[in-house]
Amino acid sequence: MLFRMFFKEQLQRTPGRVLEFGCASGNNLMLFAAFGWDVTGIDVSSAAVADARHNLEGAANIIQCNLAEELPPLGERPYDVLLIPSVNYYLPRSAFTRLLVECRRLLKAGGLFYIRSRLPEDWRWGRGEPEGSGAFRLQCRETGEYGLLSVFYTADELWQLIVGHLGELRPVSVSGRASIIPRTGSWCTMPILSSGAGLLCEARSCEHGI
Ligand SMILES: C[S@@+](CC[C@H](N)C(=O)[O-])C[C@H]1O[C@@H](n2cnc3c(N)ncnc32)[C@H](O)[C@@H]1O
Repeated sequence: MLFRMFFKEQLQRTPGRVLEFGCASGNNLMLFAAFGWDVTGIDVSSAAVADARHNLEGAANIIQCNLAEELPPLGERPYDVLLIPSVNYYLPRSAFTRLLVECRRLLKAGGLFYIRSRLPEDWRWGRGEPEGSGAFRLQCRETGEYGLLSVFYTADELWQLIVGHLGELRPVSVSGRASIIPRTGSWCTMPILSSGAGLLCEARSCEHGI
């Protein structure tokens, strides 16, 4: 639903290339595939990868990879849309940084970058053994995440990380139940949500041409 809201206008343009990190069963990518996009998804779970391949009827490039440990080879062709929805918090900070560096390489100028992350306001904050700055090895069972790492980023921290690694970005929309907070100069503050924050940005200066 989130993706329908964000991308329905973009999807009506010429089909492009989309890459989703943590694609699960391909639910988000199916929308792009339905509009004829070239889709690539990455996930650590073999079950999710099998489901995604099935759901996308073999028309997608679905790669099994543990992003906490490595990045798969993704070639030189840049993408029009990069998606990082609800997966970055499972990665150690260093692995998330590596992923952002790769995003800079892979995102077309004028391409779209979407991330949904977990803020310290999330109820899972502190529900486990501390494991580095703003990170916990979760010990709550409600969501099936027992034993998983959860790294929390403040909205400002996340924004600075993204801009620091991807270069100049122009927010095109901010999701959530709170209202959009206006930009101040070249900075944008994301709304603080209890369950996370989504940020959709348009890349203005990347290494690749259209
Ligand atoms: C909360 S789901 C989000 C799924 C999808 N992106 C969405 O927005 O609906 C998180 C997904 O990230 C995957 N994931 C978790 N840790 C990962 C890792 N280290 N490397 C790759 N994928 C991972 C999980 O298997 C799961 O499919």
